[in-house]
Amino acid sequence: MGIPTPDKLPPGPSPESWTASFKNYSRDPLAYMPGLVRDYGDIVTMRYYNFRVYFVSHPDFIEQVLVTHNRKFMKGRILRKNRRLFGDGLLTSEGDFWLRQRRLAQPAFHRGRVASYADAMVLFADRLVGEWKDGDERDIHAEMMRLTLQIVAKTLFDADVDREARQVGHALEAIMELNSDFRKLMLTPNWLPTPRNIRAAIATRRLDKIIFRFIEERRTSGKDTGDLLSMLLAARDEDGSRMTDRQLRDEAITIFLAGHETTANALSWTWMLLSQNPVVEAKLHAELDSVLAGRTPSLDDLPNLRYTGHVITESMRLYPPAWGMARVATEDVEIGGYPIPKGCGVSLAQWVVHRDPRWFEAPEEFRPERWEGDLLKKLPRFAYFPFGGGPRQCIGNNFAVMEAGLLLAAIAQRFRIRLVEGHPVVPMPSITLRPRYGIRGRVEARVEVGVRSAVAD
Ligand code: HEM
Repeated sequence: MGIPTPDKLPPGPSPESWTASFKNYSRDPLAYMPGLVRDYGDIVTMRYYNFRVYFVSHPDFIEQVLVTHNRKFMKGRILRKNRRLFGDGLLTSEGDFWLRQRRLAQPAFHRGRVASYADAMVLFADRLVGEWKDGDERDIHAEMMRLTLQIVAKTLFDADVDREARQVGHALEAIMELNSDFRKLMLTPNWLPTPRNIRAAIATRRLDKIIFRFIEERRTSGKDTGDLLSMLLAARDEDGSRMTDRQLRDEAITIFLAGHETTANALSWTWMLLSQNPVVEAKLHAELDSVLAGRTPSLDDLPNLRYTGHVITESMRLYPPAWGMARVATEDVEIGGYPIPKGCGVSLAQWVVHRDPRWFEAPEEFRPERWEGDLLKKLPRFAYFPFGGGPRQCIGNNFAVMEAGLLLAAIAQRFRIRLVEGHPVVPMPSITLRPRYGIRGRVEARVEVGVRSAVAD
């Protein structure tokens, strides 16, 4: 591909430092990207080999990419590198085909439908903490992954994955590891049998097997349970034809993965932040104890659990599970007053914007209180965008917010989690932002549990 060089370029590192910049970026994007904004401003450009990228960090410019000019962009190169995994599912497909599939899946995510998943969410959370004993040391991230996996499988596919949870966890680790080294990822073709590529290919085959089992079981039973899988199986084209097995697989695997990995990360980071911020934790516990008075939380409690909601919102500000998003211009377009030629990349990073002091006071501090008094309404629309925006906004937004709130309430009501000293908690920016070595935590039964059972009895 040629390298378009427009007449008017925004600032950016000098050409001599591009190679070093790319190395620094791919080595540690979380440390590197905020520096770009600080040094050069809200739109910065650089060339990586034969690819020009624009880092866009002003909320108004992000809106131009995701909303105003969304039709002039397609998904970025990293996601397209994962074609074997996601195929033509909702996350990666484009144009009319994407729109048709989105409309098809949408009913499974309508508010009323999502509300019906609440009891299952709480049930699985209760089952998980039922296994916990005071003083246990656990990999909290693995526990959150298992929990959200069970929930997405049950609610959207009416399937049990208890036996496969560990396998899915390992498969995702291999895929996320492959996607965490951008330099290697962009420079190494997928077909090259490197150890990482091989591990990721095996992982994808394992996940395929699980998804094909869901499809096969449903076909055999012939049941229409009204869930997402039934909707996909029943879907017909204008000419009356059904989705191919491949297409079913692509849609199902996309939602299966996107629907649990992100929420598990949101919760894992929340436990870390609560453990590091005991005053916030105490306030959370006080709210849970007063609103729930020992009862199991339900959907109706969520409007009254305002601080609990703010804890999740603030956690996703500091540790956005989708930490950055990428697009490629499919035609010439102007963003932030600069021409972006067809074929160039655009990078939008929640990680950077969510920590920008122009929008958030003391941005590095974990302060759920900042969300009191409708801060969201006062901010520019894209100063906080954990779920993206525009037509490609996360389809599972309501599902995730409800799930995170209910699981946090159900677990924090009974346990607090303390980080195990000496275990490194390191954010790994991959397709999502996950803790590279997991999060080791000691679970401590809360004294108030006594109160809970007294009330419950
Ligand atoms: C805290 C949890 C979650 C976060 C932070 C999150 C974040 C995101 C973001 C930022 C996007 C847009 C990506 C882009 O435009 O390039 C997205 C898309 C998507 N998400 Fe989520 N997500 C979460 C939970 C979920 C859940 C629970 C599901 C399904 C059950 C889901 C399914 C999807 C799908 C299918 C897409 C592609 C939508 C489309 O392009 O039409 N996500 N998500």
